Amino acid sequence: MNTLFSLKVRPGHPDFLDLPWTQSIVDWSEARFVDLPRGSSRHEVRFVAYDQGIYVVKELPRAAARQDYEVLRALETQDVTAAIPVGIVEDRYPDAGAERSAAIITRYLEHAFSYQQLVRDHGFGAHREPMLDAFAGLLVELHLAGCFWGDCSLANVLYRYDAEAIEPIMVDAETSVMRKSLSDGQREEDLEIMIINVAGGMADIAAAQGLPIDEADLTLGEDIAERYRNLWRELTETKLIAPEESFKITEKIHRLNELGFDVDEVDLIPDEGGRRLRMKVKVGGRNFHSVKLHRLTGIEAMERQARQVLSDLHYYQCLTGASTATGKEVAAVRWRVGVFEPMLERLRAMPNLHDPIQGYCAVLHHRYLKSCEYGGDVGTEAAFQDWLAAGRPDYMRASHGSETTGAHAA
Ligand SMILES: Nc1ncnc2c1ncn2[C@@H]1O[C@H](COP(=O)(O)OP(=O)(O)OP(=O)(O)O)[C@@H](O)[C@H]1O
Ligand SMILES: [Mg+2]
Repeated sequence: MNTLFSLKVRPGHPDFLDLPWTQSIVDWSEARFVDLPRGSSRHEVRFVAYDQGIYVVKELPRAAARQDYEVLRALETQDVTAAIPVGIVEDRYPDAGAERSAAIITRYLEHAFSYQQLVRDHGFGAHREPMLDAFAGLLVELHLAGCFWGDCSLANVLYRYDAEAIEPIMVDAETSVMRKSLSDGQREEDLEIMIINVAGGMADIAAAQGLPIDEADLTLGEDIAERYRNLWRELTETKLIAPEESFKITEKIHRLNELGFDVDEVDLIPDEGGRRLRMKVKVGGRNFHSVKLHRLTGIEAMERQARQVLSDLHYYQCLTGASTATGKEVAAVRWRVGVFEPMLERLRAMPNLHDPIQGYCAVLHHRYLKSCEYGGDVGTEAAFQDWLAAGRPDYMRASHGSETTGAHAA
């Protein structure tokens, strides 16, 4: 066997030297793989387990592998929700052949599932609205970061429950190009590609369900494009304000933070001879709440989970009467040690609960529902017991969610 190949791996991961890179992954011993569900793809994809976790190997021609790797690297530095690139292998000649001359390694996305799994039993159901908003939001995030996707489709995204919403994660960047910024024409071109691809994805779903093509939701991509345009406008519009209306700046920042976006800069340019100011906001990544939660407590969570966990911290700060900045910081430590961690321990010990933070969010949601029903605060412990007794209901998952994530458990 030829053992020549070049391998680039980022620190903190295995060296992957134990894998027979000069052979196609199709010929690797089955014993090396973890059998996990995956979406449709042109290239061969395999999952490999190490002590550090599960990794995904995809083999493809060198130029495509480089593109995929470089774009995912660039997106990571801009905090866009995409697969984490770990390494790239090149020059796997002669045994692997030109079409398989390279491979890219990414970190396996835990608790994520494909769109086919999402709609398998009951169509989009309650997931439809959050899913479409989230999908549009991902494309906006990518475009703000200067990424022209080139192949935006339902299949090139994985999905993960994020509190009451769904977080889409870009997994396939081999057709993408990073630019300083995108023109309106380039963004529209990407939207056109998305609309066509999404129609294809919906036709595939209809076929899989044995439905005639007429019953496929072929206009879904246009719905996503509409949501995209609204969000893009909200994030990039320039507003004229009077100098005494500075509260509108705070209002705008608050609104964007609510949408999860960080605000990097606010530009204020005099207009109308100084009578008005032209306000333009530069947004950063969509991780405002997760960064805030991490800064306050060191806890890592997805954006909407973080928002919900933060609301629990605020609830605790109110209950304990913490009002000063120092008081709130002390309460944050007490809450983490005395409330959050013990509950997380209990959730971790539960069978078939693969994402304890998502479980924590479900308990908080249950506490909210029970408190509304009761007409007063029922408290976390009572809500937790009731949640257990009710069979651990989770936001929108009643139909098939736990089964879906269960299928992905390592
Ligand atoms: N990091 C990851 N974590 C978990 N699953 C992954 C990851 N990367 C890829 N997959 C799985 O592998 C499938 C195929 O990946 P990908 O879309 O990158 O392949 P592809 O052959 O380039 O696709 P295409 O046919 O669109 O060119 C995905 O749909 C997903 O199910
Ligand atoms: Mg793909």
